Amino acid sequence: MNDKAAAGPATGVPPMRRPGPCAMVIFGATGDLTKRLLVPSLYHLGAVQLLPERFAIVGCATNELDDNAFREHLGQALREHGSAELSAAQRQWIDPRVYYVAGGFQDARLFERLRDRLADIDREHGTDGNYLFYLATPPDRVEDIVRGLDGVGLARETGGGFRRVIVEKPFGRDLASARALNRALQAILAEHQIYRIDHYLGKETVQNILVFRFANGIFEPLWNRRYVDHVQITVAETLGVEKRGAYYDCAGALRDMVPNHLFQLLSLITMEPPNSFEADAVRDEKLKLLQAIAPIAPEHVLTRAVRGQYGNGGTPSSERVVGYREEPNVATESNTETYAALKLTVDNWRWADVPFYLRTGKRLRDRVTEIAVQFKRAPFMLFRHTPVAQLASNQIVLRIQPRERISLGFGVKVPGPQLNMSGVEMDFCYGSHFGNTPATGYETLLYDCMNGDATLFQRADNVETGWDIVAPILDVWEALKPRGFPNYAAGSAGPAEADQLLARDGRQWRPI
Ligand code: BG6
Repeated sequence: MNDKAAAGPATGVPPMRRPGPCAMVIFGATGDLTKRLLVPSLYHLGAVQLLPERFAIVGCATNELDDNAFREHLGQALREHGSAELSAAQRQWIDPRVYYVAGGFQDARLFERLRDRLADIDREHGTDGNYLFYLATPPDRVEDIVRGLDGVGLARETGGGFRRVIVEKPFGRDLASARALNRALQAILAEHQIYRIDHYLGKETVQNILVFRFANGIFEPLWNRRYVDHVQITVAETLGVEKRGAYYDCAGALRDMVPNHLFQLLSLITMEPPNSFEADAVRDEKLKLLQAIAPIAPEHVLTRAVRGQYGNGGTPSSERVVGYREEPNVATESNTETYAALKLTVDNWRWADVPFYLRTGKRLRDRVTEIAVQFKRAPFMLFRHTPVAQLASNQIVLRIQPRERISLGFGVKVPGPQLNMSGVEMDFCYGSHFGNTPATGYETLLYDCMNGDATLFQRADNVETGWDIVAPILDVWEALKPRGFPNYAAGSAGPAEADQLLARDGRQWRPI
């Protein structure tokens, strides 16, 4: 397919407006997330004039820095992780808007200093008492920070300005802890002030799922149990646990990826059309979908969910890598899974009996995140000399990353006197059509939060329902230790048991 010819011209799109005035306070301002993602994202927003005109950034962390040292720190982060350096003009604009307040997150004096500094910033930069607090900290600091803010009157929206709090994942480690965290936050903040991040929702291709489904008339009629045979959702990574062994060994692949990122993909690909694109209209539909996922009974967990752990092996670039149990800060006898695959069904009118197969893992053969919607075969084999098994059934694949694309697979006649068939693909590739714009995925999320649009953030009930679905799996896996770990080699496609999960239904995973 000629991508350019196929797409309509992107004209008539109203220019995006700058958000209204605000100060953004980053807790964990000297940490990894700030360096790798927030700083480049703010830079990208600034470069296209999408930061507020009346704006300031306040870094908060325990390191003893002053404003100048923090400005330097941000500049260094941009040099290391950004797509460009600040020009002299950009520097002149941003530097006087960057501040730093040092202190521990349990120390009331930090919050007093922050309150006073924000009052000065309001006067100097006209930020109108609008504050966005980004909690780029480990999860066990979240409650302290919100309480600290409340203690000095910074949490409640009583003075006319907005107060928004962005909370990073992991949001709890199970249903009970997620509920407890929600209650603790909601005791101080209203739900509309809480922005729970799932960075998958910041990805262009993830946002495109709804556009693809609901802005095109031709797909939706097929998007149901009459035509769809099954759906495969894959989030495969080549990376191991990097420097995050301590966190990961307590979390594992299921907690780390499934109730959040994979369920985002699952709900977007299956939810009903919302009545509007308002935050709650979209989140209501996602919730309804998650609530329709059939609970896995404990006695079915071992046949519907597969876990794996990588042993040593080779990466695609043939580098030898160690097994999970030899990674830094991982227990030498660890039973933590680095791979999880599940079969789920959605008990509603549209999807009854359609299996959804989800898998995610570290140190797999290739990096690929995709959703493959596999359609039913043609009902009758007209072309008698072509064995049915050779006929690929139609498939729509939404490749989320990398090499972002959407493809449609169908059968055609191979040229020649004989009637032979072959599967081919029509392929739309984002990069070749739109070009590649440097982005971290956090730009949209920050921009939306500054504008008070929570559509791409998780509501409390969405998060809790996600945990509720995986609860039986977590419980059974906790109670019954895995046998045979490690059960897949680094650089492979995952454990053999995951293949059996589909083979029992007469199906196969798409190759990784
Ligand atoms: C994070 C997980 O939320 O998502 C990581 O904690 C994982 O373990 C990452 O590697 C994957 O994100 P992406 O954007 O690289 O697919």
